[in-house]
Amino acid sequence: MGEVQRYSQLSDIVGLCKRRGFIFQSSEIYGGLNSCWDYGPLGSQLKKNIKDLWWKEMTNRLDVVGIDASILMHPTTWKASGHIDEFTDPLVDCKKCKTRFREDHAPIKDGVKHCPECDSTELTDIRNFNLMFKTNMGPVEGEGSTVFLRPETAQGIFVNFGNVQETTRKKLPFGIAQIGKSFRNEITPGNFTFRTREFEQMEMQYFVTPGEDEKWYDYWKRTRYSFYIDTLGINRENLQWEEHGPDALAHYAKAAVDVNYKFPFGWGELEGVHNRGNYDLSQHQEFSGKKLEYFDEVSKEKYVPFVIETAVGADRLALAVICDGFVQETNIKENSDGSKSEDTRNVFRVNPLIAPYKVAILPLSKKEPLQELAHKLYTDLNSDMAVDYDVAGSIGKRYRRQDEVGTPFCVTVDFDSLEDEKVTVRHRDYMTQQRVSIERLDEFLKEGLKAFDEFGG
Ligand code: GAP
Repeated sequence: MGEVQRYSQLSDIVGLCKRRGFIFQSSEIYGGLNSCWDYGPLGSQLKKNIKDLWWKEMTNRLDVVGIDASILMHPTTWKASGHIDEFTDPLVDCKKCKTRFREDHAPIKDGVKHCPECDSTELTDIRNFNLMFKTNMGPVEGEGSTVFLRPETAQGIFVNFGNVQETTRKKLPFGIAQIGKSFRNEITPGNFTFRTREFEQMEMQYFVTPGEDEKWYDYWKRTRYSFYIDTLGINRENLQWEEHGPDALAHYAKAAVDVNYKFPFGWGELEGVHNRGNYDLSQHQEFSGKKLEYFDEVSKEKYVPFVIETAVGADRLALAVICDGFVQETNIKENSDGSKSEDTRNVFRVNPLIAPYKVAILPLSKKEPLQELAHKLYTDLNSDMAVDYDVAGSIGKRYRRQDEVGTPFCVTVDFDSLEDEKVTVRHRDYMTQQRVSIERLDEFLKEGLKAFDEFGG
């Protein structure tokens, strides 16, 4: 593999995502809608693969089950959870240029807060701005019909603690996992899909016996870090832990740590692991009047469990995977006259587990019976893995297109294939090529996807 360079500008990542069909601006034909993005054919597949992988990691174990709760919840949920009173950001306006921004994000010079746009120090007083989106339920608007779009998926899990525990008969410790949309009316969204007003969360609440919470907090910290390093293969130097001091804790948290990723615009939070104590269940118990206790058959005691939470944004993780994997690679190429020259290609070095396509079938010619053979390979493989089929342009161009969208293997079908019943399999990262019999192709690709790094070197 040649010399590799990451993209240092977010604008290059945004351009690449649009050009290759990963992410488009929402309602682009109308000029777009601020902070809203649409995932195209490749992006939606990438994000789905990330969510599926997370879901598998979380729920393929006896102590975690999944749910899918609704976005709209009883309004008292948000009073109990503290979101109505506490889920606010300090908002100020610049009196000079009228820019509105978060006071705690404003640059400080000589101990004074400045406007990030025009540098003025003439700012309005701070107002606490609640980040929840409001809407109305039913045809009549008014106080009684106000509902909120959930700002976190977690509350759907807390209010269902009793239902899940009763129906699954799970004993502590056990967890409930969920993937779904959340909404926050962020004052300053931005940095592409990093901070948006509509986003997807992947959260897991793990219910434990009080007193065992610190042990499980450590366990989930280690488990989640290993997900990024060992399962996803994110570059270690782009990840770091940040423990929250007491001043930076959310209203519900006893302890919290963030997994941060080094994005082109700087370090940013990817996931939070929180010790929420028994705050949420106790609040819901109080506001609903319904018991949310657990009966411990060993100690014969009833208590409200403590909760360790792991919370990651699917969109942020997809962005981190994109920033981590998209590289420009320069190789030294030997020309036909023996001279050497530099050759640069774009490669999306994404883990094959989450690559949008696993394989691309590339017939060397559009003529029959080559197309027929290539199409049969496509249909045979497609039942087991996501396969692309590309006949347009030179084979070199098609390889480059697949490299750029992260397809681990290209399978070229040529005229010899009709005679020797073999095809050429090319490895995305090493660019090595191997002749493989069609009979063994499916098995060869499956083995190759499992041990991708060792396969073509
Ligand atoms: N239930 C806990 C909770 O929601 P959080 O730290 O506020 O915790 C968890 O959010 C994760 O959700 C973050 O680490 C981030 O990945 C994602 N997230 C939060 N706000 C976001 C936003 N405005 N845009 C995109 N992702 C967001």
